[in-house]
Amino acid sequence: MNEQLDTLLSETRRFPPPPAFAARAAATETLYHAGRDPQKFWEEQARSLDWMSPWTEVLVWKPPHARWFTGGKLNAAANCLDRHLAGYRKNKPAIIWEGEPGDQRVLTYAELAREVGRCANALKSLGIRRHDRVAIYLPMIPEAAIAMLACARIGAVHSVVFGGFSAESLRDRINDAQAVAVITADGGYRRGQLLPLKRFADEAIAETPSIKHCIVVRRGREAAVSLQGDRDHWWHELLERASPNCEAEAMDAEDLLFILYTSGTTGKPKGIVHTTGGYLTQVAATTRYVFDLRDDDVFWCTADVGWVTGHSYVVYGPLANGATVVMYEGAPDWPERDRFWSIVGRYGVTILYTAPTAIRAFMKWGTAHPARHDLSTLRLLGTVGEPINPEAWIWYREQIGGGRCPIVDTWWQTETGGIMITPLPGVTTTKPGSATVPFPGISAELVDASGRALERGGGFLTLTEPWPGMLRTIYGDDERYQQTYWSRFPGRYFAGDGAKLDDEGYWWILGRVDDVLNVAGHRIGTMEVESALVDHPSVAEAAVVGKTHELKGQALAAFVTLKEGKQISPSLKDDLKEHVVRKIGAIARPDDIIFSADLPKTRSGKIMRRLLKDIAEGRALGDTTTLADPAVVNRLKEMYEDKES
Ligand code: WTA
Repeated sequence: MNEQLDTLLSETRRFPPPPAFAARAAATETLYHAGRDPQKFWEEQARSLDWMSPWTEVLVWKPPHARWFTGGKLNAAANCLDRHLAGYRKNKPAIIWEGEPGDQRVLTYAELAREVGRCANALKSLGIRRHDRVAIYLPMIPEAAIAMLACARIGAVHSVVFGGFSAESLRDRINDAQAVAVITADGGYRRGQLLPLKRFADEAIAETPSIKHCIVVRRGREAAVSLQGDRDHWWHELLERASPNCEAEAMDAEDLLFILYTSGTTGKPKGIVHTTGGYLTQVAATTRYVFDLRDDDVFWCTADVGWVTGHSYVVYGPLANGATVVMYEGAPDWPERDRFWSIVGRYGVTILYTAPTAIRAFMKWGTAHPARHDLSTLRLLGTVGEPINPEAWIWYREQIGGGRCPIVDTWWQTETGGIMITPLPGVTTTKPGSATVPFPGISAELVDASGRALERGGGFLTLTEPWPGMLRTIYGDDERYQQTYWSRFPGRYFAGDGAKLDDEGYWWILGRVDDVLNVAGHRIGTMEVESALVDHPSVAEAAVVGKTHELKGQALAAFVTLKEGKQISPSLKDDLKEHVVRKIGAIARPDDIIFSADLPKTRSGKIMRRLLKDIAEGRALGDTTTLADPAVVNRLKEMYEDKES
């Protein structure tokens, strides 16, 4: 075990903070000292928000339930908007948006505040109130941020469902949260095609009795959508009639801000619950220090708002800091493979935050694309979502960052709300492939399979103290919350990731050790895909495993046994893939379908995924170009599973 890890520890390149960057950086060494008293540290961070009434206690910790800033009242939308309107930021761009076809919109803070006010009043006019759940199923258009902030303004709880998810996924999420309204669009552009979101929403709503209203943004120029009676409303008609002034509700720090569904190890996605005060404190603080945010920055986080990265670092974190954010609707290779660099050049992006899977694609596409554009405005680069292999890190630094920009490799999860392990640019010396050290005020510990703390070597990443942005529960299923996160290593939050600690205490995240795969930076539960497959009339049994993929990190390989009498027709593989897309969404489309008469099982009937994984990996097993060396992750998985069974 340790020999294997030693090979990973051979990365010797070090990148100390560039002195010129350090001289002006928002974070200094003192931040780490301050973080040694987490409660005091976070209380200090909370003070940078606008509160309507102060908290009485910083933290109430009844493991595994935390309440932060109890008694305090605030409004997340007011923190992202109103407090910037008094001074010069009023006319500062809040959102610079570009649609895939090339259309553009700039919303200043004053304009964004007016749109949010109108949307908030429109929601109220439909009878939507505090604590009601509202599903948001939109493409990456400004209305997505407007809708989220409008919900926050009136105290409604948003549940954003990624526009790439299927009608059935939307239906299940609406039903789980009992949402009363859904906000969607006639469509969104992806590689030149208009994705018919309203049609999917209609399919979903046919089986969601809780939905009373559907609000439709007109995105396509002539997309034909049918609006139904009292239920459906055009966004632009509702907002036209609504006043831009809407008083922000005073919300308790622990009132729900949003629910966001994420894949777990069972077939049913979990509704991760985030509340208002602690979440906003953490995302605002991490945006400020991890991204070294300054008033003249142009900040571009390329994530879709359908994922947590979009929630925390497109909307809440940057807007709470009064930053200018860039939002882009479509694909990075549309119409050409230089679309990102053309955006960076044209808007003068200074901070870019993207995923390793995208960086690997850019590497493959070649340096000619970035070289055609002026990237000299960039001063800081970030990555998130999966382990980054050192070669991709170096390429990002040289080809995109011109060798001058620090890189922040940030580890966190939907559940953590905000960034947890990351360098502080200007302070932390970085190593390619390592997320470095916990953010101030965050306590992480490596443990072995029996839960013993380890000083170095390989093991499991756990968090030992509550943090403000932590999930509060799983919506409607607190039992599952306790079971999933707090039972494997009692007294600790277990993130599901394998990791190693080097001699200098740096973290190297290796990847998931549970039945969750990370495909192109997206979490996909193997059980979800298996349930989708066995739902097909020909399938008796299915087992899904991840296999190493050059660009996506992992890809899905599905082993399928057919029901008695069912034949393998020439089109069956494609039918099965399409079936999964229809049930879950295109992100879950298996790369390989392997028909098999039987699946290998243990005596107790558990599918032996390890064996299947070996088959799926084939020769790729020895591939050492990725940091998340499958051999090491597999070894950790074995340790994890042995203990489980
Ligand atoms: C993985 C995304 C290595 C990890 C914010 C985690 C990472 C899962 C990193 C959460 C990183 C995220 N290095 N792995 N910097 N960041 N991960 O919930 O496996 O979509 O558990 O949140 O992504 O994915 P999620």
